[in-house]
Amino acid sequence: MAKLKKKGIRCCYHGWLFSPDGEVLETPGEDPDSKSAAKLRKTFKLGAYPVIEFNGLVFAYMGPMEKIPDFPHYDAFEIPNNTTRPYRIEYKCNWIQVLDAIMDPVHTSFLHGQSSGIQFSKGFAEVGEIEFFERGVQYLGCNTRRIDDNVWVRVNELILPNFTQAGSAFAADGTKIRYFGRSSFTRWVVPVDDYNCVALAWGNFGERGDPIEYNNKEGCERIEAGEIMDRTLEEKQKTPGDAEAVEGMGTISAHKGEHLMPTDHGIMIYRRRIRKLIKSLEEGKEPPQPQQKKGEAIKTNGQDTVLRVPKRNIDDRKFIKSVGSAVIKMQFNFENLPLKERDKSIINNLSEMEKSGSF
Ligand SMILES: [Fe+2]
Repeated sequence: MAKLKKKGIRCCYHGWLFSPDGEVLETPGEDPDSKSAAKLRKTFKLGAYPVIEFNGLVFAYMGPMEKIPDFPHYDAFEIPNNTTRPYRIEYKCNWIQVLDAIMDPVHTSFLHGQSSGIQFSKGFAEVGEIEFFERGVQYLGCNTRRIDDNVWVRVNELILPNFTQAGSAFAADGTKIRYFGRSSFTRWVVPVDDYNCVALAWGNFGERGDPIEYNNKEGCERIEAGEIMDRTLEEKQKTPGDAEAVEGMGTISAHKGEHLMPTDHGIMIYRRRIRKLIKSLEEGKEPPQPQQKKGEAIKTNGQDTVLRVPKRNIDDRKFIKSVGSAVIKMQFNFENLPLKERDKSIINNLSEMEKSGSF
């Protein structure tokens, strides 16, 4: 614990004052004439790291200075009329277990819709058709649901190693038409150690995010995990949310004994890639970063879209899957356009696809 002072940080324990770059400025409990204290102030420094404060979150770079990357500027920072709220949620488990949930969109139908009752919007209880996409360091899990005459395409995304987004939690339920709604949260899952991690994020609120009434601490917790975090054991057992599901498998789940299914394909491919990148890093090869052109935001794909697409005289499961595929592939086609143009083109194309029925 420390107190912020004009010149730096003062330690609560013995009152020593440290400058922002780690220099020891004052050692007040020591004799002012002490030679050893003077020597210590001159020769010792604490570690110090460059930080960027952005929109209520603080980002620190802890690697070698000659390899400091550009601060990633995502399109999520530029959604018109979007209101954000920073939040921090601790998980008592390995960070990979929290990432797994984002690449496991089928869990949203069960955990958030059927097992614990409706935690997000009602449509979540429908079981969708799942498809995965791998694009550079980006991994997408697309869940397409049939809701009466509508088809709801919800896309979860992971940008390696730990950036995640998903469609809205409450704004879309498949009943109202929605073109390219953006993510409910923009989040980094940061390991603390092998057994703990923390989600540092913004909740996104407004027309293209979640409804503004969820812009509070409780709302962010519900969007993050399906439930508020501070609950009794009984409540957690009766209506588990993401925290209970991912922590409940143990602080580090044993991958060795797993039997992965086709809906786990997203988990398989991103884990395999992370293992490869860790091995490469051990051999001195830096992991790739998301592509960022100067002056342009990194394009992300987490979203939700609801189109009016009544059933046809064909297998509807196959049909809705093809709708999901067509939506996301169209999205990819506009990836290189400037941000505003890209959004406009995607939205126009969704409307066109819906009118023409060509998927
Ligand atoms: Fe979840």
